[in-house]
Amino acid sequence: MHITESELLSLAVQARQNAYCPYSHFAVGAALLCKDGTVYTGCNVENGSYSLGVCAERTAIFKAVSEGKKNGDFEMIAIAGAPEGEVPEKVCPPCGACRQVMTEFCDDSFRIILADGTHTLGELFPMRFGLE
Ligand code: THU
Repeated sequence: MHITESELLSLAVQARQNAYCPYSHFAVGAALLCKDGTVYTGCNVENGSYSLGVCAERTAIFKAVSEGKKNGDFEMIAIAGAPEGEVPEKVCPPCGACRQVMTEFCDDSFRIILADGTHTLGELFPMRFGLE
């Protein structure tokens, strides 16, 4: 079944309901679409030892990789974030750490769907580090 960008964004909004964010009270959801049609969702998961928290995007990507997805298997990711209790209408761009993690598994054309529309990894994270 073909999933549209706006459907993927709805899945990100849904995934946001599971955000564990008692410290920042900023809830984020992500939905990652693979080229085979599989969707992995994620939310931010914070910790009382603050620096151990993880973003929604990385949760989704690590879930996918841990289930066997490989470099190049990813089509796009949708991200929805806003203060807890608010509707995520404003753009929530991925943090730098998440852009670097995307870089590990995705090329420039990887699509990043935000509240304001479609971006690409190449556009949001040019001249990025890679070992090759
Ligand atoms: N957060 C994400 O989940 N994704 C982002 O791209 C930016 C920030 C989370 C991390 C933390 O739990 C909360 O939002 C506030 O920074």
